[in-house]
Amino acid sequence: MLDTRKYLDIQNEYKPVNFPGYNHPAEFRRLKPTDTLAISKVIRKSRKSLMNYLEWADKSGNWGFPQIQKWVMDHVKNDDFYRDHFVFLINKEIVGMCSTAPVGDPYQVQLSYWVADGHQGKGIGTAMARTIEDYAFRVIGWSAVQICHDATNRASGKIPQKLGYEWNGTFEGDNYARSETGFWYSWIKYRPEGLPPGILQGEDPEYFSQAVTRPEEI
Ligand SMILES: CC(C)(COP(=O)(O)OP(=O)(O)OC[C@H]1O[C@@H](n2cnc3c(N)ncnc32)[C@H](O)[C@@H]1OP(=O)(O)O)[C@@H](O)C(=O)NCCC(=O)NCCS
Repeated sequence: MLDTRKYLDIQNEYKPVNFPGYNHPAEFRRLKPTDTLAISKVIRKSRKSLMNYLEWADKSGNWGFPQIQKWVMDHVKNDDFYRDHFVFLINKEIVGMCSTAPVGDPYQVQLSYWVADGHQGKGIGTAMARTIEDYAFRVIGWSAVQICHDATNRASGKIPQKLGYEWNGTFEGDNYARSETGFWYSWIKYRPEGLPPGILQGEDPEYFSQAVTRPEEI
């Protein structure tokens, strides 16, 4: 007969750490279609603080629910292996989102992130970037991750500096969002030496699509 006591012991010993400044732990998982209503609320609430550096947030002012639904489904249903979209939740509330995107190198990805209004300046952007970077190296197995930000976006630029990225240049890029100047900084972190191959190297990424991670070292 199955002795369930030993499993209950493990469950009791496992006490997730609260995210600093909150009474709940943070959770990190892939964006999914059922997030649409929650995303719609968080985008509406946060539009003003996101629109200076995120063009889609500016445009979202005219969106009805169907457009938000499309935005979520476009993010969920992409068939580009380099693109992944994750939400960060505290007490079941979406407090931020971060993504990977292609950079034109087959072994590298770029990270991007935004944090909801009322939750900025509390370390969530840094924690999300650290968690998705870990995912990129340990789960997928990328060789390097990059972060690019407009030169005037000081908050975004602080994150790679805090996480030990190397500055690897500037470039002239697009300036679609209100405060973007078109002058971009780029930062890179190479895969730490000695890491084992990514868990998904050569595997089916869908296998992990339902996984929920509790980042404990934040
Ligand atoms: C960029 C963003 C994701 C940062 O998230 P966050 O949760 O507020 O960031 P953190 O709390 O982890 O803080 C990161 C660092 O930036 C600093 N910072 C925050 N706002 C700042 C500002 N306006 N100027 C300078 N530094 C700033 C913080 O002090 C912190 O550094 P510290 O720990 O040394 O004090 C968030 O501000 C955001 O969503 N901005 C709008 C969307 C955006 O610009 N996305 C990036 C596009 S490239």
